[in-house]
Amino acid sequence: MKYNVKDIEALNQRFENSKPEEVLQYFMEMFGDRMALSSSLSIEDQTLSDMMLKINPKARIFTLDTGRLFPDTYQLIDKTNLYYNIKMEVFCPQTENLQQFVREFGINPFYESIEKRHACCEVRKLEPLRRAFKTIDAWVCGLRQAQSVTRKDMQMVEWDENHGLLKINPLIHWTEEQVWDYIKTYHVPYNKLHDKGYPSIGCEPCTRAVKPGEDIRAGRWWWESPEHRECGLHRSN
Ligand code: ADX
Ligand code: SF4
Repeated sequence: MKYNVKDIEALNQRFENSKPEEVLQYFMEMFGDRMALSSSLSIEDQTLSDMMLKINPKARIFTLDTGRLFPDTYQLIDKTNLYYNIKMEVFCPQTENLQQFVREFGINPFYESIEKRHACCEVRKLEPLRRAFKTIDAWVCGLRQAQSVTRKDMQMVEWDENHGLLKINPLIHWTEEQVWDYIKTYHVPYNKLHDKGYPSIGCEPCTRAVKPGEDIRAGRWWWESPEHRECGLHRSN
């Protein structure tokens, strides 16, 4: 189904004051197994996993394993699978693509230029994401407006014209504090790196800890300017 601007506006109005669980329930009933959460195992995504699995223990959750994640993140994938008795769907880069990329550009080319960084994200994240997209019509993400300048205009429900997908951000209006309250209240497993100064976690070579008072995404692609700090997963919006 294709949504136009009016449909999207109506959905955003309808859910303006709704709890994330209500939003999820509505769309999970509508899309069934053609809807999935893409999880980076962040506190937002762990919160959404918990909410979705409480609504339906068969809810679909996938993760993009770039091959460059932190050991703690891999541990959390296993821990989450065990805790909820699920098997998160893992999408990996295509071997041939990745080999060619590494032979041409090297293993860590992302510090050299934005172009090379985007090329790495393309091979390791975006191509696998497009494969995941083929299996869904609705895409749930853990984006929040307060996360960064690049996200302040994002909406709860968006239409992704490029991929013909409904994108749903149930936590779009939540604060970081609300997310942590949920995690602690419901004993949701989380990445231990958060206790060591890492508020936002992506690939290991592209993430550093932040100092107290620093922006929560200051440690992501820290060598680039803030308006560039998206990997393409969410840039088109
Ligand atoms: S990123 O674009 O800068 O990496 P961020 O880490 O803030 O994004 O995550 C925002 C949302 O993008 C997550 O809530 C999740 O829905 C999706 N996402 C990011 N990284 C991944 C990943 N490796 N696998 C699956 N989904 C991801
Ligand atoms: Fe490559 Fe860094 Fe992008 Fe991960 S975040 S895919 S390592 S450029």
